[in-house]
Amino acid sequence: MYVCHCTVVTDRDVLEAIANGARCVADVARATGAGRTCGNCVTSLRELVCQHCPVASRGTTEHPAERELGVAGAAR
Ligand code: FES
Repeated sequence: MYVCHCTVVTDRDVLEAIANGARCVADVARATGAGRTCGNCVTSLRELVCQHCPVASRGTTEHPAERELGVAGAAR
């Protein structure tokens, strides 16, 4: 299933990024390119990180690095 239509990133790509060490949306964005154009996928990226990342902090809505790395929609 496509998660980021702007960069054609699938949920499998996101899960692979998490398996390879991504621990926040910014890490996933860095690994896949997702989330840096329109930002419509950031919520879905965050949900996947929260569901599948063993150390993701739950309850936070924004990781400080998201803004620093230019993840679109980080300020939402
Ligand atoms: S859908 Fe992911 S940046 Fe646009």
